[in-house]
Amino acid sequence: MLDPSRHINNLALVGFMGTGKSAVGRLVANLLQFDFVDTDEQIELSSGVRISDIFAQQGESHFRELESDALKALESRRHCVISTGGGCILRPANLASLRTHSLIVCLWASPEGIYKRVRHQTHRPLLNCEDPVNKILSLLKERESAYRQADLLVNSELRSLRDLAQHLAYNFRAARQEIPA
Ligand code: S3P
Repeated sequence: MLDPSRHINNLALVGFMGTGKSAVGRLVANLLQFDFVDTDEQIELSSGVRISDIFAQQGESHFRELESDALKALESRRHCVISTGGGCILRPANLASLRTHSLIVCLWASPEGIYKRVRHQTHRPLLNCEDPVNKILSLLKERESAYRQADLLVNSELRSLRDLAQHLAYNFRAARQEIPA
């Protein structure tokens, strides 16, 4: 049960890389007729630098500062589906910021499922390493307790994208008391 004093203006998707946040997020945004915002895209747009280059040139900690700035800038937005980077809620302040305006949904998948989705992609600096499977396992372990702080955890492997999007739209409307929970 959500705290009734929460302001649910937006839907924020959190969760590990490769769990489908952007793909599902675009579909839910369509269903709700909301804007779709991807924090990684916002960072690339405002800095003019690709995420992998920010990591390579200025390091992860600089990226995390830009990520926190991008999240702060979203606090006044309404009617948005926000897809966040997989490490965003590791900073408690980022999670607190999202909580001021969003229903926070964490997409979850098994390490095998995640690996299948990311293995042919090269744009994620944290997984461009010798042993991505082990990296996924250790990052998941490190991050699990943060992901569990979301309002809703949804396994993204068990449903089609369309089903997932409908499930999230339903839960969002219920959280806004537009339909009975
Ligand atoms: C990261 C996830 C990426 C991106 C950056 C760091 C992470 O976003 O923000 O590479 O720490 O898990 P996606 O989750 O959209 O891949």
